[in-house]
Amino acid sequence: MKILTVVGARPQFIKAAAVSRAITQHSDITEVIVHTGQHFDEKMSDIFFREMAIPKPDYNLDINSLSHGAMTGRMLEGIEQILIMENPDYLLVYGDTNSTVAGALAASKLHIKVIHVEAGLRSFNMKMPEEVNRIITDRISDILFCPTEEAVKNLRNEGFENFSSQIVHSGDVMEDAALFYAQLLDNDDSFLQNMGVKSDEYALVTLHRQENTDSVDKLTTLVSTLNQIAKEKPIVLPLHPRTRKKLNQLNLELKVNTIEPVGYFDMIRLIRNSSFVMTDSGGLQKEAYFFNKFCITLREQTEWVELQKDGYNFVVGTSKEKCIDAVMQIEKREFERKSELYGGGHAAQFIVNYLKKKL
Ligand code: UD1
Ligand code: UDP
Repeated sequence: MKILTVVGARPQFIKAAAVSRAITQHSDITEVIVHTGQHFDEKMSDIFFREMAIPKPDYNLDINSLSHGAMTGRMLEGIEQILIMENPDYLLVYGDTNSTVAGALAASKLHIKVIHVEAGLRSFNMKMPEEVNRIITDRISDILFCPTEEAVKNLRNEGFENFSSQIVHSGDVMEDAALFYAQLLDNDDSFLQNMGVKSDEYALVTLHRQENTDSVDKLTTLVSTLNQIAKEKPIVLPLHPRTRKKLNQLNLELKVNTIEPVGYFDMIRLIRNSSFVMTDSGGLQKEAYFFNKFCITLREQTEWVELQKDGYNFVVGTSKEKCIDAVMQIEKREFERKSELYGGGHAAQFIVNYLKKKL
């Protein structure tokens, strides 16, 4: 069996690390990896392949830093050529980025079966590029591996049972990655000392989503909120290049501990040692839960509604008042894990076994 995997952005490398590891345990499966080049800085791309031992991409299209249309269009063209040359049994894509939709669209037009890992998630906010990407990808995929029951429900509500696609509840491959790589880490926290922060005494923050960074009002409010919180609670913020550019353009000053983006190993260290997490990232909301930390989500909606329902995640949008209130609530609470929401770290193996049975 030959699987052609398309990745391009940071969260996809982490998901692919889990699934590629499972694939390499099966000698009868060949994986060809295409990197679209969407993320290209060493700290946004190469570091993940190196640290997490993801097989080196067979192709790199080097397509990045363009408008949505130009980026997706050029990826579509490049992936199509590779698919024609490689003729795989399946095309495998993850998540909801422009690289995801470009891969799925190229394969479906060539009648190559599309596998979507992390299918069925919805924010119900069509202004998000990710929502558009995931809806299109889901609709043209043949096998939809859903990380949660809620994702399965979303697809059923949209009538997917009337289509020929298979909906499968697999669990979440990001939990596989978190559990596997965390056990490889030592307890060395000297890098925290270098930053002048102490374990359990800082909030870990990330901020990069277009809905926040491309709105002057929202970004200005978020900076002001973080600066206010940082007066009481140290903040460590690995800064996405998108956000860095926007802050510079708008002359906004973050008075927190900003650092360069970090690799996955340091990210796990930062989460594990944090007091709590604040983010607009999709993946980080779950990682907070995997490592028993509360999360404040700096968006109006979350796709991971089960975390919100179970009280682990406070979805506050860009409201300063709600955010500061959530910080106060978290400071008073003990994190208590009552549920196993994402499958316990067996999703990748499940996915690979399922594919072997189907072909
Ligand atoms: C993309 C995804 C988003 C995901 C995020 C993960 C889409 C539509 N969005 O957003 O869903 O949450 O990745 O991080 O696909 N840049 C660099 N160096 C890099 C990467 C990006 O400088 O290594 C710059 C680009 O030049 C561009 C900006 O950051 O100016 C945004 O990059 P882009 O890939 O368009 O979107 P992300 O915000 O990274
Ligand atoms: N991440 C990382 N280093 C960083 C910031 C994030 O390794 O400096 C990891 C994070 O732990 C998570 C993934 O990148 O596993 C999420 O990616 P991101 O927030 O960029 O995208 P999203 O999940 O929002 O699509």
